[in-house]
Amino acid sequence: MQSFKDKINQEKLPKHVAIIMDGNGRWAKSRGEKRTFGHKHAIKAVRDVVNACNEINIPYLTLYTFSSENWNRPEEEVGTLMSLISETLLLEAEEIFTKGLRMHVIGDINKLPPLVQEQMMHLVDITKNNTRGNLILALSYGSQQEILNAVKQISTKVKNGELKEEEITEQVFENHLYTKDFPPVDLLVRTSGEVRISNFLLWQIAYAELQFLDTLWPDFGKEDFFECIYNYQNKERRFGKTSEQLDEHL
Ligand code: IPE
Ligand code: IPE
Ligand code: MG
Repeated sequence: MQSFKDKINQEKLPKHVAIIMDGNGRWAKSRGEKRTFGHKHAIKAVRDVVNACNEINIPYLTLYTFSSENWNRPEEEVGTLMSLISETLLLEAEEIFTKGLRMHVIGDINKLPPLVQEQMMHLVDITKNNTRGNLILALSYGSQQEILNAVKQISTKVKNGELKEEEITEQVFENHLYTKDFPPVDLLVRTSGEVRISNFLLWQIAYAELQFLDTLWPDFGKEDFFECIYNYQNKERRFGKTSEQLDEHL
C-alpha cells in the first residue's frame, strides 16, 4: 500500500501543526494498567511525530503536553508526568539538538518543578541557533490565562502612556502572546475521540483546520500524521472568501 507520505504535496504543507495528545489514560485502562502506563507509552508517539515533521519539513510543531487544568489531577499522576517530562528532556536533548530543531516552551513555566524549568531553559538555550524546525512544548499552558496576561500587559502599557488605545491591533495583541514568534496554527489535531479544544491556543486557531481522530495517543504513529497532512491538503481554505475568488488567483 502506498504511504500517505508519498501523496503529500510539498508545495502545500502547513507551516504550523498543533496537536492535543489525548487518550493515554484510556489506552492504559483498556490494557488493565494504571494511567501512568499510558503516559510512558506516549513518548514513542511524540518521537514519531517529531521525526515525521522533520522528514517532510514542517517548520512549527506545537505539542500540548500539560495543561494548566492538568495541575488538578491526583498528585501521584502529576508527579509521574513531571518525572517523565524531565527524563524525556534529558534523554532526547541530544537528538533534538543534532536534528537541528529549535526548542521553545509556552505556558506558566514558573509552576513547574525547578529541575524541569532548568532542563527546559537549557534546551531552549542550546538550540537557539538551530534553524531546521521549531518544536514548541505547551507545558502548564492555558489559553485563557495567556489571553488574560496579554490584556493585562497591554492595559499597563496604555496606562503608562507607552501605547495608545487606537494602536491596539490584532498584531499588537499577538505580540503579547507566548506564541508571538510563531505563525498561526494551520492544522490542529486531537486524538482520543474527544471533540473539544480544552483551553488550547484559542486565539491562534482562529482559521486552523481541525481534525479529531479516534486513535488514542500512544497508538498514533508517523503514518497517522502523514494522513492528517494529506487530509489537510484536500481542504479548501477560503479565509472568508468564495471558491471562485480563490480560483482567480491560480
Ligand atoms: C493525555 O492523556 C495526557 C495528558 C493530558 C497529560 P490523558 O491522560 O488525558 O488520557 P485520557 O484522556 O484520560 O484517556
Ligand atoms: C488536554 O487533555 C491536555 C493535554 C493533552 C495535555 P485533557 O485530557 O486534559 O483534556 P480534557 O480535560 O479531557 O478536556
Ligand atoms: Mg484526556
